[in-house]
Amino acid sequence: TDGAATRHRPREQWTGQTGFILSAIGSAVGLGNIWRFPGVAYDNGGGAFLVPYLVALLTAGIPILLLDYAVGHRFRGSAPAAFRRLWRRLEALGWFQVMISFVIAVYYAAVVAWALSFFVYSFDLRWGDDPAGFFTGTYLQLADVGGADSWVTLDFVPAVLVPLVLVWVVTLVVLGAGVAKGVERANVVFIPLLVVAFSILVVRSLTLDGAADGLNALFTPNWSALGDPNVWIAAYAQIFFSLSVAFGIMITYSSYRRRRSNLTSPGLVVAFANSSFEILAGIGVFAALGFLAHQQGIGVGELEGLTGPILSFVTFPAIVSQMPAGPLFGALFFGSLVIAGFTSLLSILQVVSAAFQEKFGIDRRQASLRVGVVAAVVSVLGFSTTTGLIALDTIDNWANNVGIVASAVLTCVLVVWVRREAPALRYHLNTVSTVQVGRWWYAAVGVVVPAVLGYMLISRIVTLAV
Ligand code: PHE
Repeated sequence: TDGAATRHRPREQWTGQTGFILSAIGSAVGLGNIWRFPGVAYDNGGGAFLVPYLVALLTAGIPILLLDYAVGHRFRGSAPAAFRRLWRRLEALGWFQVMISFVIAVYYAAVVAWALSFFVYSFDLRWGDDPAGFFTGTYLQLADVGGADSWVTLDFVPAVLVPLVLVWVVTLVVLGAGVAKGVERANVVFIPLLVVAFSILVVRSLTLDGAADGLNALFTPNWSALGDPNVWIAAYAQIFFSLSVAFGIMITYSSYRRRRSNLTSPGLVVAFANSSFEILAGIGVFAALGFLAHQQGIGVGELEGLTGPILSFVTFPAIVSQMPAGPLFGALFFGSLVIAGFTSLLSILQVVSAAFQEKFGIDRRQASLRVGVVAAVVSVLGFSTTTGLIALDTIDNWANNVGIVASAVLTCVLVVWVRREAPALRYHLNTVSTVQVGRWWYAAVGVVVPAVLGYMLISRIVTLAV
């Protein structure tokens, strides 16, 4: 029942373990590391947050990462194909992941495009004295217009459009070049570059006035936070998003590993590299925030805009403007954001492209082209119309907060409880790998993930629905 493509062409492969690991790190290290983790940690107990965070990593993040690897590697397919081979009815779960990936890609591409613009703007501090007005005025103006007649506003702002189209073109070229020659090559170049650029940024941040105040604000532990269930939920949510699990990405990526290749140690490397980058980002971001607070003569706690697009496109420009050699710092920051986002974007689109290749037996160039053109049109229209921005925001909220959690819960419940495949998957992992997975893994994927994420899912549906 496999498509013609899988019958006639050999499966694509990474050139080796390093390419796989760097690409998996490229997927995991993304906007979530840079603009999400620092603020989430700060809001949820500061230094004390590291406890639930590590617990979430060990009891859910790594176990489900290994589950994804095992499914992809054993059944050698994109998410729908691999799940179908595991159990025919599970193909739908794979398509659900493809759908979520598509939605997130549309949004992610726009953010990468914004970061690209800001990389250029850094050189002449284009945002002037009013970064907030500059950002919302150009990028979110449509959403601000409000009122009934603005519902259909269509406004192709060149500053938005040109970088967005550029990002899509580059993405399609890389995907079309294939797993080894496109995705892997891009990651092998970009990930080391990201580490270097970001490390320079962190060192520079640490030497700014007020840096210590920022670090104190981030790391001073508030131990009482550990008694708050929401803090634990925040930790599990951060780990899930950050490791890119349950999107079908790790299934797809591991399906390109050679048949006999180690899975568990690369998984540990990826997980710890991702968390290290996250903590590094926390240090860099909060040192810089400490500087900003120092410049304004206020406490770090009084600053606003500590996460998300506002952190990146309003707060950071303000920091860049006030710092000696600011443009260099800005270029490092936005350049890092571009790379981190772009390598994640490649991974989500590879999920979609691989699924279509295998389902319809089309080759990767055609699949990337079709998927990419549709996604590009959706994102251009989405980010150029009021309706689009509102719709994307809503859909993205559901995809990120509900869809992905549902996907993880369903995977665990169906694979572990309904199909009882966990022993076979563990056997597979242990046969190909050096580091062995113990029986604790059953408890993690069978009990911890469904329980914690099930609770999270229900509470989010309730919040979003009312
Ligand atoms: N792991 C990415 C991050 O931390 C987020 C992401 C999830 C990217 C899924 C792609 C796909 O930003």
